[in-house]
Amino acid sequence: MSQTATQPAPKTKASYHWWQDGIIYQIYPRSFQDSNDDGVGDLKGVLQRLDYLKWLGVKAIWLSPIYPSPMADFGYDISDYENIWPQFGTLAEFDELLQQIHAAGMKLILDLVPNHSSDEHPWFIQSRSSRNNPKRDWYIWKDAKPDGTPPNNWLSVFGGSAWEWDEKTQQYYYHAFLVKQPDLNWRNPQVEEAMLNVMRFWLDRGVDGFRVDAMWHMIKDEQWRDNPRNPNYEEHMATYEQQIPAYSTDQPEMHGIAARMRKLLDEYDERLMIAEIYLPVHRLIAYYGLQEKEAHLPFNFMLISLPWDPLLISAAIDEYEAALPAEAWPNWVMGNHDQPRITSRIGVQQAKVAAILLLTLRGTPTLYYGDEIGMRDVPIPEEEVQDPQGLNMPGKNLSRDPERTPMQWDHSDNAGFSKNKPWLRLDRTFHRRNVQVQKQNDFSSLALYKSLIDLRQKEPSLMTGSYRPVYSDNQLIAYLRQTKGQAGFLIVLNLSHRPCYFTPTTIRFKGTIVIDTYPEQLNTTVQDKIALSGDEGLVVKLDECQLHS
Ligand code: GLC
Repeated sequence: MSQTATQPAPKTKASYHWWQDGIIYQIYPRSFQDSNDDGVGDLKGVLQRLDYLKWLGVKAIWLSPIYPSPMADFGYDISDYENIWPQFGTLAEFDELLQQIHAAGMKLILDLVPNHSSDEHPWFIQSRSSRNNPKRDWYIWKDAKPDGTPPNNWLSVFGGSAWEWDEKTQQYYYHAFLVKQPDLNWRNPQVEEAMLNVMRFWLDRGVDGFRVDAMWHMIKDEQWRDNPRNPNYEEHMATYEQQIPAYSTDQPEMHGIAARMRKLLDEYDERLMIAEIYLPVHRLIAYYGLQEKEAHLPFNFMLISLPWDPLLISAAIDEYEAALPAEAWPNWVMGNHDQPRITSRIGVQQAKVAAILLLTLRGTPTLYYGDEIGMRDVPIPEEEVQDPQGLNMPGKNLSRDPERTPMQWDHSDNAGFSKNKPWLRLDRTFHRRNVQVQKQNDFSSLALYKSLIDLRQKEPSLMTGSYRPVYSDNQLIAYLRQTKGQAGFLIVLNLSHRPCYFTPTTIRFKGTIVIDTYPEQLNTTVQDKIALSGDEGLVVKLDECQLHS
């Protein structure tokens, strides 16, 4: 039996939110554009490059933390939640940037880091000053065991024990990350109120939402039980992975807090909550909210975490699609400031195939700055390593500096990023891999991203249409994206370097190739089968499509 594809009733364009049909672009502010030539990027620099982002076609900019900080973890250690780090600019410059972003029809998302502050935040300075300071309970203080060792076996994500002894007050404090990042005590309602006030501060200024840092860490087991050993630990892994963080993360009480944060956002118009959460799919989707609404977009890191294997990836896409509650909107992330870049994981050619995957799956894509020009992880000599994760666990190649190097704009000195020596060295290949040269080359990564974004944003099938898997094997993934009344698009991706054949038995189709990692193929008509080159990914605009069941 054969049938024409039927689709669920589509929403009208107007009923989608900006964060559903738009694309998010992550900027690591230190590395995007330096406007005052001190070697470190800044807010004015972002403003200078707004035209590029508008041209690229992204809807929202997410800025990694821009607040005052001792920079032990490059801004994820905040000493004042309601101001701007002087090297990044001023509040007035922030307001100007926000206004210009809005004038360009775009949105701005800030990083919110509620799990921990800097040890130099006045809250912690008070908290550690004495056992009976009113802020003592704002952080997590515990007595030593009788033998003087920490209260339990929990490990810090950045290496070593998660407990730090405080000589003065004779107790340990808990830090999931650095010693200089003490965890706030979210069981204390005053902490919650203070952080909701921080959110209000920025929402009142007009920001369009938050990416909530380390949300799955925020509440810990009330009994402080030891974490179990991880039977799958291997030497090359971060020491943190010696344990399964069963009691230190993803506790049920977190859902109530997330719901209250969401409630606050919903008092405003169209604001967005993204949550950084590294968890298996069924626990991840709980952060959309089962009883009450929680995050709009719990970040989906599957494309970062999984091996580049078509069978694993296609199965994971289906598992995610199937697990999503009816009202939950999917999202996809291919890179960020904590993970090796996609080019360095799977190679420059496959990274183009990955771009098609990211920008044609159902749901909001988040792009990491520089991925659109195929930036690679830069080898940082050992003596130049700055990232604490790399410094604390030497010999494991865990530094995140390589994926945080300055944006490569052009072939002038320092790639147009700064007139001064950049805080992290640039990729040696920046003379030939930069925005300027790629804009002029139809075969570049940037040209591919630009045409994918243009197509996605003008085609409702790709922007908000349904997803239907068609075929996968040990080389290929193929799927349909369709909206009512349109034949839609067929996406066929070869995740291997060898040629392969797409000869599906479940659909018959006819259409034209409109996107291809090998642009020589563009405008070719295809029918029922396609022979693909190694590393080829393509998008077919369908004239006809029949599914067989
Ligand atoms: C998040 C951030 C990471 C940071 C950590 C501690 O995982 O993405 O960069 O180091 O939280 O704040």
